[in-house]
Amino acid sequence: MNAHEWLIYQGKGDPEPGRVDRLPAPPRWRTFDGTPLTGAAGTAPPLDAASSRRLGDRTSLSAQDPRSLQLINAALYLRRPLLVTGDPGTGKSTLAHEIAYELGLGRVLQWPVVSRTELKDGLYTYDAIGRLQDAQLAGQETQTQDIGRYLRLGPLGTALLPTRTPRVLLIDELDKSDIDLPNDLLNVVEEGEFGLPELERIADRPGQDVVQVLSDDGRRVPVTGGKVRCHAFPVIVMTSNGEREFPAPLLRRCIHLHLDPARGERLAAMVQAHFGERADETHRDLVRLFTESGGGELRPTDQLLNAIYLTRNAQHQGLGKLLLRPAEQGQRP
Ligand SMILES: Nc1ncnc2c1ncn2[C@@H]1O[C@H](COP(=O)(O)OP(=O)(O)OP(=O)(O)O)[C@@H](O)[C@H]1O
Ligand SMILES: [Mg+2]
Repeated sequence: MNAHEWLIYQGKGDPEPGRVDRLPAPPRWRTFDGTPLTGAAGTAPPLDAASSRRLGDRTSLSAQDPRSLQLINAALYLRRPLLVTGDPGTGKSTLAHEIAYELGLGRVLQWPVVSRTELKDGLYTYDAIGRLQDAQLAGQETQTQDIGRYLRLGPLGTALLPTRTPRVLLIDELDKSDIDLPNDLLNVVEEGEFGLPELERIADRPGQDVVQVLSDDGRRVPVTGGKVRCHAFPVIVMTSNGEREFPAPLLRRCIHLHLDPARGERLAAMVQAHFGERADETHRDLVRLFTESGGGELRPTDQLLNAIYLTRNAQHQGLGKLLLRPAEQGQRP
């Protein structure tokens, strides 16, 4: 096997859905035994607008550097989450969309993290009050109602549904979380499963072993015995701006990828994806200005994309350049 043949994700920007089937079986310690769902429930919906907004028109190279490619593929082989760090605007969140696009893994499940986010938000929500109100209106006991209508799997819960090909899950800005979330995540990531106590409690009642609940994709999917247990471990991309350190047990279970700001070929590929072939010719000036940043200055890629857009549509070079100031300066009057 030559040095590149083992790469399942090649960062080329061309979709090649069959390649994911070439992934070898997971290591024994990362093998999961959920029974695969069949029919529509077992397949991912197609990529949605969230992905095309970020990726632009993917007919061009996205040019990941060889080291990043190796780490991304190591995570795919080992069925481990990828922890992506780097300055704002370096393409951390977009990486999840690129992987889903190239490997044909369908809609990216997105879990944006804020300080109040708890593990349970990612797994599922149960609308107990809604269920009670509906039961009162219908003059029924809650027990006789379809409990599945009031349970909705979150992005993490949906990613762990037993599918034959992995789903892509973006856990965005994990460093913004409360101190407990990274630790709480550990167990789920390790075991690839979780329980819904509301369903586990009733699983031994007649006809209640399999309950149809709503997924994050808005579909009805069966949950058996109150447990969701994965089959193909999801491709999990966790991003962090490095606002704080993560606990060692979590780091040990992830593959860490640090993205440097896009420059050269990779930057040109991003610009081309959003503006087409003519982009670097017409806007070489702006790209040069953007690239010549001094040490320590924050220059998110979005700034360049915005500047090019304005220059094109307002026909005003100066306007574009105005935006190309380091991000910290942008705050000052
Ligand atoms: N591979 C790519 N192809 C096309 N455009 C890209 C690519 N990667 C990043 N971009 C563009 O660069 C911009 C910044 O990327 P992204 O939002 O992923 O950065 P980030 O590192 O997640 O930033 P933050 O830390 O602020 O969330 C996006 O608006 C996206 O359009
Ligand atoms: Mg981001």
